[in-house]
Amino acid sequence: MTDRSSSERVVHVPLGERAYDIIIGEGLIERAGGEISTRIKGRKAAIVTDEHVAPLYLESLMDALEADGIDATSFTLPAGEKTKSFDNLQKVCDVLLEARIERNDTVIALGGGVIGDLTGFAAGIVRRGVRFVQIPTSLLSQVDSSVGGKTGINARQGKNLIGVFNQPDLVLADTGVLNTLSEREFRAGYAEVAKYGLIDRPDFFTWLEENWREIFAGGPARTQAIAVSCQAKADVVVADEREQGRRALLNLGHTFGHALEAATGYDSRRLVHGEGVAIGMVLAHDFSARLNLASPDDARRVERHLREVGLPTSIRDIPGDMPGVETLMAAIGQDKKVKSGKLTFILTHGIGQSFVADDVPSAEVQSFLSEKL
Ligand code: GLY
Repeated sequence: MTDRSSSERVVHVPLGERAYDIIIGEGLIERAGGEISTRIKGRKAAIVTDEHVAPLYLESLMDALEADGIDATSFTLPAGEKTKSFDNLQKVCDVLLEARIERNDTVIALGGGVIGDLTGFAAGIVRRGVRFVQIPTSLLSQVDSSVGGKTGINARQGKNLIGVFNQPDLVLADTGVLNTLSEREFRAGYAEVAKYGLIDRPDFFTWLEENWREIFAGGPARTQAIAVSCQAKADVVVADEREQGRRALLNLGHTFGHALEAATGYDSRRLVHGEGVAIGMVLAHDFSARLNLASPDDARRVERHLREVGLPTSIRDIPGDMPGVETLMAAIGQDKKVKSGKLTFILTHGIGQSFVADDVPSAEVQSFLSEKL
């Protein structure tokens, strides 16, 4: 990670000919034209965004591109997970071809994870791949989905089942846009920030415990937290770009979290992804303690911090009725981290000491969960 100025950080992702920079700082949307034109030759761009983000930032981005001689068109989709469909993939591909986006032109995803995943997929397949820039507008997408090249759409059979690894050419994480997020949305993204400390950066977790108020308030601590998170993700992605092993660590808290999201019918009034991950991370630490892999004190420490920032930390914090343990186990069985009937979980030996366990007995999980319901 390098400091470009006192308020801007650059994280380089060294993936050979797919290497790219993640720039983190305030006001990057207004400077997007300059950042893109120094890296990408083509003079045309197509921006894909959604109905929530377009009124806030589309005009500034179009103006910024025009100021640097980039001719941009835009396409606005409905907001929400349902947008990641075949139908919308086709629409985006149509728009890119109609706009005559060539291999050296740029497709820009301006939005959260849904827009980034769908747009990155389209950019990877139109003309066998055109240039692709991520401008993530949620904390969750700045620290997770915009980095690492996972792109795709949902299928009838499940989420994210159709897609390609397509690394972006540039990520511009404009920290100023986070000021328009709701507290709840910011907190949900923060769960993924804390995750990086819990995976393998214990000092970062301690720093978060001490500095979370400054991170929530904005300013240098927020930029630093996002930059460290992007660096942590980049390190994992560089070690295992296509998730043959170590990259699975990024799923800490996600197997339980996904099952809880499914159990609420993906009703965002009850639970959003980052909240599911927060509860899932506490469960993963508790479960590790139950298996005598870690101290129960670590689980309590994780719970204390996430509760202090205002995240839910137990299944009982989810409003409304939850289904029985069999339904949760069925959802865990549907999760993609199941191989040959064995459950794969990210477990831990303590704060910052997570590991991939691919032989977890499902009976242990079931009896653990039935006590937590
Ligand atoms: N969000 C998990 C990954 O990028 O691998």
